[in-house]
Amino acid sequence: MHNKTLLSHFFHPKNMGKMKKPSGYGRAGNPVCGDIMDFYLKIKDEKSKAIIKDVKWETLGCPVALANSSVLSEMVKGKALKDAEKITQKQIIKKLGGEIPHQKLHCSMLALDAFHQAINYYKKKRKIIELKTKPKTKHNFN
Ligand code: FES
Repeated sequence: MHNKTLLSHFFHPKNMGKMKKPSGYGRAGNPVCGDIMDFYLKIKDEKSKAIIKDVKWETLGCPVALANSSVLSEMVKGKALKDAEKITQKQIIKKLGGEIPHQKLHCSMLALDAFHQAINYYKKKRKIIELKTKPKTKHNFN
């Protein structure tokens, strides 16, 4: 049986849904059960820091996967990207009441995997934009 916190996130999930034009998008799946998780991030620069302004997620998953996504979305919303990307599975489980049955641990990784995919997507996109907008110089110093 799941604890109260986990059940509360399952029955009243936070930040669930799709996002139009996300800055970052990631998908993770579990080949064993076939469940899939999508994570969307809206990231803005504020005072030279990348801040996660909004988070949305969708899942085709079990109660543990769903509750993990909900709690992770709350943990990262409004946070600096460099801090949010350091969040661990252990911290998420702790926020969810501290216990997840051993056979359900893989379910708790889906949200974190999709979140990291979304960050990678954002970083790659940003790098491409920076390369395109880099001022052209007469000389090649490489
Ligand atoms: Fe598939 Fe939990 S059973 S994510």
